[in-house]
This record gives sequence, structure tokens and C-alpha cells, in this order.
Amino acid sequence: MRWRNFREVLRQLPDLGGKIVDTARIYGSSEEVIGSIVESLGNRDKLFLATKTPMNGDLSDIAGAVDLAFTRMKVKKLDLIQVHNFYGTDQFVAEFRKRKDAGQVRYMGVSTSTDNQYDQLADAMRKYPLDFIQVDYSIDNRSAADNILPLAQERGIAVLVNMPFGGRRNAASTFSKVAKRELPDWAGEIDATSWAQVFLKYCVSHPSVTAAIPGTTKPHHLLDNQGGARGRLPDAAMRKEIEKYWDSL
Ligand SMILES: NC(=O)c1ccc[n+]([C@@H]2O[C@H](COP(=O)([O-])OP(=O)(O)OC[C@H]3O[C@@H](n4cnc5c(N)ncnc54)[C@H](OP(=O)(O)O)[C@@H]3O)[C@@H](O)[C@H]2O)c1
Repeated sequence: MRWRNFREVLRQLPDLGGKIVDTARIYGSSEEVIGSIVESLGNRDKLFLATKTPMNGDLSDIAGAVDLAFTRMKVKKLDLIQVHNFYGTDQFVAEFRKRKDAGQVRYMGVSTSTDNQYDQLADAMRKYPLDFIQVDYSIDNRSAADNILPLAQERGIAVLVNMPFGGRRNAASTFSKVAKRELPDWAGEIDATSWAQVFLKYCVSHPSVTAAIPGTTKPHHLLDNQGGARGRLPDAAMRKEIEKYWDSL
């Protein structure tokens, strides 16, 4: 059942206008599962495939560690490769640059999902020629907006927002806060028809944000979330309105 759902999500994503599929070495067999499904669907060219480097282990064979991503994902080219939580950043970024020059990787970046790595993230953004950062940001967790998002804008670095619902472990509590509440009238002004769409539109309307990467195992959630990519987005005043509403709960 789960495999069938994963396959449906990856089949429908590009048909619904989505592109980005983000995974990581540390997510169990996720790289292989995505690689196998995408290979069998034959829709690799419609997707933007991103993965991350290992978060532990031997740093003496960096090239081998990067090669494994291509093997596991069954692709010759990756759209984005990211250093995961700053493990071996110097070594991996040096290798990414070679892979970009060789045309094997389109973009390189670094990824975190925790405030206590924001100093390292800011240092990396100043030190390396990064194309992307990936960072946690949501209506319930806005600290990336203090320094990281403005710095990304200043340096012209694209931003992927991970955990836009607060993360797999906390999403239930994010949604439960609004579970019994009707969407306020202002949701209509941003063409949001669900709370998930409000949360996503809040994330992607930040001027620094390039895209959000909500996680889902369910095709009906994919359909809902893709609605967050359509219609009007909140402007600065509406973003404040959403924050005010959330903070009052
Ligand atoms: N350090 C890092 O680099 C890092 C860390 C964490 C995450 N990430 C990246 O960010 C992605 C997203 O993170 P995440 O999955 O932990 O957090 P998330 O996107 O904030 O939350 C996902 C949770 O929300 C639920 N959900 C999704 N769409 C929904 C909808 N429309 N209505 C109600 N519930 C919905 C999902 O359940 P269902 O499965 O039932 O849909 C899942 O439990 C990951 O896949 C990963 O690529 C990166």
C-alpha cells in the first residue's frame, strides 16, 4: 500500500505542476525507492531530483560517497546535491564543484532543519558559492526569517523550505491547532481552500523562498498541497495577518 502511494505521489507530482523531489542518504532506502519508481515511471525529465550527503562515516572517499547518490537514485545527473547538516562541508563542497564542472550536478547547496545550526549555515552561505540552501521555516517556526532568509536574498542563494508543516513529527500538532476552525475569510483572498494551503502559501510568499518541499505519503495530500502553488499569494500585509491569527491560537 505504502509503495503504491509513493508511486502515485511521484507519478502525479509533475502532472499537477510540481517538480522537486528531495531525499537524503540518511532516509533509509528513500534514494533507492525514488530511483526505482522514477525509472519505472520514466518521468525523470519532468522532475528536479535533490539529495544530500551522508551525515556520518568515512570522509576519506568523498568521491565514492557522492557516486553512491547517482547509483542509488539510478540517474546520470542530479539537479541538486546538498551537504546534510554540515558533515564534511569543506570536502563535499570541493567535490560538488568538480561534479558541476563535469555536468553531473546542476546545483549545489547545504541543508539543515534546526536553529542551532544557523550560525554554521550563515558561515557556509558567506564562504562557499552555494546555489541553494535548505532550511526549516513554517508559520509555527519563523526564526529562519530573522537572519538566514535575508542573507539568502542578499547573496542570491535559492531557498528550499523543509518542514513547512513543522516537520513529520510535529505536523499533527500544527494541523490539530486549526482542526476545528473554519478557514477565515481572508483565506479566500489568497485562494487557499485548506489549512495546508494557507501554511504553504505563507512559506512560499516570503520574498527569499524559492520553493517549499512538504513531505507526504498520500496522493490526496499531494493534491491539496499542489493547490498551495496556485492562485494568489499573501502580500506583506496578509503575511502579518496570518501570523497574527496563528499567534492568537
Ligand atoms: N535536515 C534536513 O535537511 C531536513 C530535515 C527534515 C526534513 N527535510 C526535508 O523536508 C521534507 C519535508 O519534511 P517533513 O516531511 O518532515 O515535514 P512537513 O512537510 O512539515 O510535514 C509532513 C507531514 O505533514 C503531513 N501532511 C502533508 N501534507 C498534508 C496535508 N495536505 N494535510 C495534512 N497533513 C499533511 C504528512 O503526512 P502524510 O504523509 O500522511 O501526508 C507528514 O506527516 C522532507 O521530505 C525532507 O525532504 C530535510
